[in-house]
Amino acid sequence: MKITFSISKGKSDYIARLFSVQELPDWGSYNYETIEMYSGEDVIGIAETMHSGERIRGTGKINGIEINKQFQRSGKNYGSMFVKYIEKHLKSHGVRTIWVEPTVSAQGFWKKQGYKYIEDEGMKKVLS
Ligand SMILES: CC(C)(COP(=O)(O)OP(=O)(O)OC[C@H]1O[C@@H](n2cnc3c(N)ncnc32)[C@H](O)[C@@H]1OP(=O)(O)O)[C@@H](O)C(=O)NCCC(=O)NCCS
Repeated sequence: MKITFSISKGKSDYIARLFSVQELPDWGSYNYETIEMYSGEDVIGIAETMHSGERIRGTGKINGIEINKQFQRSGKNYGSMFVKYIEKHLKSHGVRTIWVEPTVSAQGFWKKQGYKYIEDEGMKKVLS
């Protein structure tokens, strides 16, 4: 099946419920986006991202990402594919550094995507 993505402006209630995303203190005026990943007609993943407008240029964040249970660790690397797409998308908006605040159980996944753990702050990747 062909993998495609769709991007809509705004936060995702689904991601907020799943990861109890906190409102950040003043990170500037952020552009929130909800991104869905499709296999054919079926949504197989969802993520919420944010990138800074003019105030703190170059900073982005992935607030949460989920691949449908039946497709997790499927050997098809859907999660990695999704992260690569998001990184490329955020980069096209001037983002150089992406932050994530993963649950402990997902840290291994992010490490494999090249994210480094910074104590008390989360994990970050500087895009090349
Ligand atoms: C985390 C998640 C997005 C990864 O998607 P996925 O499609 O399962 O991941 P992939 O198949 O692309 O995995 C890529 C690599 O990371 C590894 N990996 C996947 N999930 C992992 C985890 N939780 N811990 C450690 N390693 C993990 C895979 O084994 C694979 O390793 P390999 O390259 O050596 O084979 C998905 O499992 C998920 O939705 N989990 C529940 C929600 C969640 O925890 N989201 C992240 C918090 S923001």
